[in-house]
Amino acid sequence: AQIIQADFVKSSVRFEDCPSDGLPEFALVGRSNVGKSSLLNSIVRRKKLALTSKKPGKTQLINHFRINDSWYLVDLPGYGYASAPQELRKDWDKFTKDYFLNRSTLVSVFLLIDGSIPAKKIDLEYARWLGENQIPMTIIFTKCDKRKKKKNGEKNGGKKPEDNVNDFQELIRGYFETVPPWIMTSNVTHEGRDEVLLHMAQLRNY
Ligand code: GTP
Ligand code: MG
Repeated sequence: AQIIQADFVKSSVRFEDCPSDGLPEFALVGRSNVGKSSLLNSIVRRKKLALTSKKPGKTQLINHFRINDSWYLVDLPGYGYASAPQELRKDWDKFTKDYFLNRSTLVSVFLLIDGSIPAKKIDLEYARWLGENQIPMTIIFTKCDKRKKKKNGEKNGGKKPEDNVNDFQELIRGYFETVPPWIMTSNVTHEGRDEVLLHMAQLRNY
């Protein structure tokens, strides 16, 4: 599952404007700053193909990247970015959900969840929405290199990524008929990168 070529193709606001060549695609979604653009760069082994930032709200459109001239990786804006203007957030939410519901070449949504912290309500709500709408999905836990040290009086501090991952899966179990596949990753150590690529290759061949 080697990546020989990766090209940015276009940014779209509406699903109707996305590329129409019928190639299969995978979309990366998740809370702002969870590491969507970083995962894309890690997968294609290019540091700056998708733009990343320490500040949330960097990606604001539906961005198509063509891989090996045969499939797409799609970088999306994050949800839950409290400082973005309300109007803008509503806009992002609407066009990404329209895209999920209408994009016929979408093979699977990759929902990115920060594996270094306990589950957030907004992530559980997002997983629930995908489940209710029967959108095929894979869960990618990011930042599994980060191990939070327990501070005095902190309730959830000190949990390992493995614990957060198990807790999250327990919490979303009721939202799905079949439990979605999941992979633990880090964009720093590149843990899980090959697994993600292999999983995408398997999904494309179904
Ligand atoms: P938006 O486009 O704003 O929605 O964010 P995004 O989800 O695309 O996040 P982005 O890839 O821009 O990364 C946000 C920050 O998290 C950057 O400072 C990254 O360096 C950092 N980061 C991303 N992945 C990891 C990871 O696996 N481990 C660690 N430690 N940091 C990461
Ligand atoms: Mg981004």
